[in-house]
Amino acid sequence: MSELFLEHDHSELYRKYRPKYPKEIFEIIDRKLTESTDKLPDHLREEYKRNKQSKWRVALDVACGTGFATLMLPPHFQSSYGIDASEAQIHQAKIEYGCRDPSRVTFLCDDALNIEKMFQRDSVDLIIICQAVHWLERGKFFKICQNVLRPGGMLVLIGYAGYTFDDERLEEINKEFILTVCKGNETIMNHFLDKYESISIELKKYFPNSGRCDSYMNRIETSITEYVGYLRSCAVYRNFKKSNPDLHPDTLDDVIDKSGKLIPIDSPVKASCEYFMIVGVK
Ligand SMILES: C[S@@+](CC[C@H](N)C(=O)[O-])C[C@H]1O[C@@H](n2cnc3c(N)ncnc32)[C@H](O)[C@@H]1O
Repeated sequence: MSELFLEHDHSELYRKYRPKYPKEIFEIIDRKLTESTDKLPDHLREEYKRNKQSKWRVALDVACGTGFATLMLPPHFQSSYGIDASEAQIHQAKIEYGCRDPSRVTFLCDDALNIEKMFQRDSVDLIIICQAVHWLERGKFFKICQNVLRPGGMLVLIGYAGYTFDDERLEEINKEFILTVCKGNETIMNHFLDKYESISIELKKYFPNSGRCDSYMNRIETSITEYVGYLRSCAVYRNFKKSNPDLHPDTLDDVIDKSGKLIPIDSPVKASCEYFMIVGVK
């Protein structure tokens, strides 16, 4: 697994500052799952239909981190599981989990490649993996997902490339920061720039019935302080810091200085975050 999310200070930043997942994404996924289930032969459609409360059976949020997406699953599923290999992330997920309705969410600390040991073949309706598939051994993972998903079940790869500010001057500072920290992290960054296009080609080998789904643009109000917290939580930034320990000033101090000259750092600023999705249907 990735060594990047093991530190407690990183996980705490993650829980505080990372973008949450809007409910609209899960409504899109629910509609897609309805479509794929409707296409099954009668006996399978009957076997895998929703229950009387209109919920599917089981969903997994693999590499769930601090559990933002896991917590969005219970309105649609009878049982929802968040699984992550980092104990620090699962610890923060449980803190986040304690603040919300705790019904039917279970967090497990384990490797993504072990889900086959935890869930029976053909038993899972949905697997989501948010902002994480780029860290995994994808061939093995996709094969395992094929096994645990039920017919008509779906694997959904979800990602976002960060914020875009309405204010063009802030956006310029943002882009400059990204270009700086990209150096040495190009492979990972390219996955965001192409919105997982190359990963979707890999997915097709295992899920021939797969493709890009509608993306969702979320409008948010944030502040420079919160945004810098988000940047500090980015694995790519932490990598960059580790490879350039002597760099002065710190690139993030530079972002605070430059942005703070334009707008007080705690004032509200408007931005967008685009979430993209690749769906594989079994
Ligand atoms: C960028 S975070 C995304 C967290 C969360 N899904 C979200 O969207 O906020 C990537 C997560 O992948 C987890 N991860 C990386 N490799 C993993 C593996 N092999 N098995 C399980 N989790 C893994 C890390 O511990 C980390 O929490």
